[in-house]
Amino acid sequence: MEAHTINYEHIFQLERVLNKIQDFDILLERILLEARKIVRADAGSIYVREIGVGKEESIEKLAIKYSQNDTLSAKLAEGETLIYSFFSIPIDKKTISGYCALTHRLVNIPDMYNIEKDAPYSFNPEYDIISNYKTISTLTIPLIDSDDQLIGVIQVINSRNDAGETGPFSTSDEAVISHFATAAATALQRAHSTRIMVLRTIKMSELRDPKETGVHVNRVASYSAEIYDRWAYLHKIPAVQREKVKDILKIAAMLHDVGKVAIPDAVLKKPGRLNDEEFRIMQRHTVYGASLFGNLHSPLDEISRDVALTHHENWDGTGYPGWFDPVAGKPIKTGENGNPLGKKGEEIPLAGRIVALADVFDALCSRRVYKEPWGEPEVLNEIKKMRGIKFDPELTDIFFDIYPSIKRIQALYQEEETA
Ligand code: C2E
Ligand code: SIN
Ligand code: SIN
Ligand code: FE
Ligand code: FE
Repeated sequence: MEAHTINYEHIFQLERVLNKIQDFDILLERILLEARKIVRADAGSIYVREIGVGKEESIEKLAIKYSQNDTLSAKLAEGETLIYSFFSIPIDKKTISGYCALTHRLVNIPDMYNIEKDAPYSFNPEYDIISNYKTISTLTIPLIDSDDQLIGVIQVINSRNDAGETGPFSTSDEAVISHFATAAATALQRAHSTRIMVLRTIKMSELRDPKETGVHVNRVASYSAEIYDRWAYLHKIPAVQREKVKDILKIAAMLHDVGKVAIPDAVLKKPGRLNDEEFRIMQRHTVYGASLFGNLHSPLDEISRDVALTHHENWDGTGYPGWFDPVAGKPIKTGENGNPLGKKGEEIPLAGRIVALADVFDALCSRRVYKEPWGEPEVLNEIKKMRGIKFDPELTDIFFDIYPSIKRIQALYQEEETA
């Protein structure tokens, strides 16, 4: 067995990369990819511990989140993605992943078809038959957080040498992947607390205003991420940055209207058209939201502030709140009437311009206390009409280019209609 030299500098670099990813799911997928790369595994899966609610007690299980397989992926036609089944396995000694999860121990199996007779776990070759792929070697590593709690399990499959031949994972593979798993667990723990805080904040808005539902927030977030992704591709933004911004923007977009929690009920819940005074009060939700992210601790805070503050700015400068400092609570630039000057064109941050489009599209398609949902042709016509007036013209074109993806997201997050 050849001994690879362990490149710890590479692991340190990876730690920095992982710690910048905010979204838990994106992080899981990336961790699996990097784990496979550092031990040159052809395939692999990542599992997360979940509490499934059983009949009498809550049962902990391992739920599969991502599977990757280079050999099977290479056989797919252009544009096709690998299909794998989502399943959960019990945390017990009968499976290798379950054993790893239960004991918090790494398991290195050189040949799955010749597991030691006295091993507590066994291998079910049915998965190989279904997927038409032969599993030979596996290395299964627990992801343990700083409180010694299990987060999940990484399983890498089929170690490849330079000639592309499959062999067992080495002891140096064990060392390097253990080190990597510690860094991965730390990043996951952080992403998980970010997610919990964001969901809690959104839940708070929902309690305040039950119309501001999770589905609306999820749609606006996903539309925004897709629009950004296309924009970044067209602008040749490097892949790493593109993924990072897309990830952060998705969370920031979920929080675009969080400032509405500070709007009085009489305005927030008015069952009809707002008058000028009420609308002026309502407009403050941008500034209130932005002030929550005032001190810019992280890129997530920064983009969340941009989005909350500028998602009602218009490309032609007629939107609100304009040049207004949410922390100081006063205008930055004022016009002749003493009101803040409007932001226009690229003075409006890209993230704000994207969410503006996603938010209005979703508002027009949806029922509100003050309006019925519009038909699709009317909505698209309105968006087209507002190209270069309310909306960034380039982003409007992108929106129409990726419209099939927009429709897919819309179908994914459907309103539960309450009659
Ligand atoms: P929202 O309902 O999520 O709407 C977001 C944006 O979508 C609106 O920003 C507006 O640009 C666009 N939009 C929504 N409905 C229509 C429509 O029927 N026609 C057109 N042309 N555009 C529409 P806007 O106007 O700055 O409003 C911000 C938020 O203020 C709204 O968020 C909503 O929560 C509240 N709001 C606005 N107008 C009224 C109203 O007349 N009554 C009530 N109760 N709330 C209102
Ligand atoms: C406010 O009234 O607090 C908000 C912003 C503005 O003056 O446009
Ligand atoms: C950016 O804001 O990241 C890019 C420049 C732009 O606003 O077009
Ligand atoms: Fe808003
Ligand atoms: Fe909204």
